[in-house]
Amino acid sequence: MTIITLANEKGGVGKTTLATTLAAGMAARGHQVLLVDADPQANATIAVGAKKRPGIYDLLIRDAAWHEVIMQVPSKYYNANPQQPSRLYLLPGNVETRNIASSISDVFAITNRLQELEGTMELIIIDTSPTPSLLHGSIYLATDGIIYPTTCEALAFDGLIESLRHREEANKVRNSKNMAAFKTLGIVPTLYRHTKEHEDNLKDLKAAFPGLVWEPLPQRTIWTEAARKQLSVFTFDPTSQAAADGHKLVEQAERAIYAIASA
Ligand SMILES: Nc1ncnc2c1ncn2[C@@H]1O[C@H](COP(=O)(O)OP(=O)(O)OP(=O)(O)O)[C@@H](O)[C@H]1O
Ligand SMILES: [Mg+2]
Repeated sequence: MTIITLANEKGGVGKTTLATTLAAGMAARGHQVLLVDADPQANATIAVGAKKRPGIYDLLIRDAAWHEVIMQVPSKYYNANPQQPSRLYLLPGNVETRNIASSISDVFAITNRLQELEGTMELIIIDTSPTPSLLHGSIYLATDGIIYPTTCEALAFDGLIESLRHREEANKVRNSKNMAAFKTLGIVPTLYRHTKEHEDNLKDLKAAFPGLVWEPLPQRTIWTEAARKQLSVFTFDPTSQAAADGHKLVEQAERAIYAIASA
């Protein structure tokens, strides 16, 4: 089982879009996937067509059993021919997620609860909020690898640098507990346009993080339309350019996840 987290302390850079797209794409490729909505905005919960509920709060604070909080996302979210039972699950969230940080007593609570799914889930994808909190620290302790979406703008790079700083702090804690440091799977330029500003900033990003920057995900209105219809781009319009971009993203993620899982 591999646990990956989408993070960037800048809002609106595509964390939820990538979390839901990767969850959809990996489930479509036959993996058993759990999407965890750790953002009080609960955008991932809504995006996959579920209702906001205190799933992650109940799991971590009320010690709920997994079967009480987890739900199956219908296969129509990710599969254009949904005959088989869905392989995609959701741990939903709502505004109560904000109270987890002040109520949690054990920083390893998330690690311990997620480890209960070993043998049941192959991949866990955690969507986080842009506002840093103690919850992020606990998530980082549970995480094997992080994907950082970023727009190619200076302000988004600031959010990225802050997230990377917090990553180092979390890795110090992991080190003190004899845990391996978690990996950066990749930095994904999102909402990308072929303007001089974006092209220049992409070059700077690649120079600052050699080998870590993935293929940019171009800005296309279909991403927002699909989210509004509570479908992935793969089922909203399977023949669209956005769906093709999404497939490339999932292939890259699958390779990166395989690399850390077999390391
Ligand atoms: N490649 C893209 N092309 C066009 N629109 C996009 C693309 N990627 C994301 N969007 C849109 O940009 C908006 C912000 O994306 P998203 O919600 O994924 O960001 P976020 O980082 O999760 O935001 P927050 O920090 O508020 O949680 C959404 O409306 C989404 O549909
Ligand atoms: Mg989000």
